[in-house]
Amino acid sequence: MRHAARAPSPDLFGKESLLFGKENLADLREEAAHCRACHLYKDATQTVFGEGAVHAPIMLVGEQPGDKEDLAGQPFVGPAGQVLDRGLGEAKIPRNKVYITNAVKHFKFVRRGKIRLHQKPNTSEIRACRQWYERELVTVKPALVVAMGATAAQCVFGKITPIGKNRGHLLDLTEDTKALVTVHPSYLLRLPDQESKEREYKQFVSDLKLAASYLRKA
Ligand code: URA
Repeated sequence: MRHAARAPSPDLFGKESLLFGKENLADLREEAAHCRACHLYKDATQTVFGEGAVHAPIMLVGEQPGDKEDLAGQPFVGPAGQVLDRGLGEAKIPRNKVYITNAVKHFKFVRRGKIRLHQKPNTSEIRACRQWYERELVTVKPALVVAMGATAAQCVFGKITPIGKNRGHLLDLTEDTKALVTVHPSYLLRLPDQESKEREYKQFVSDLKLAASYLRKA
């Protein structure tokens, strides 16, 4: 069996965990709205918490909200969200089967004139925010977590988990939950030429199709 990556603290997710199934998403969202676990809340408009079906079989994890998401208060409503929606459609994964969240729940950026330029969250910010992902995970209890991009993979597995080496097959996350890693939809938008855009997008959809086929069997 290849790459059976494990989360570092499986107890936290296990059925014996104090958190297991005891919280609800509305309370978590409310608590996260006041999160001060790192400095990112100071410049962001608001916490962008996860959203979707309460017991969705798939949890999709992105990096952090972008400019549009920060203003709207919802994950994946900007350009990356459009790519994601298209990919989900092609993989025949209905939105009501999905819970979407981010590794980091505040927008990190630098100002350049009127523009707010996205900045990648660092390890201490990812760690500070991880409690929310962990609590979303035990509350939603998805059969499958899809980590999109390096930051999401670091959050989901609790350590740096390269996408290239780990994509294309299911990984063990907890006793009841598998994981898949794939690229982040924003990466597809940043590719310089049409040929690589098409090639990488196909590969992204094929990862999502693998998720869909696992869920059909599960
Ligand atoms: N990129 C992300 O990782 N998350 C969002 O919500 C939007 C863009």
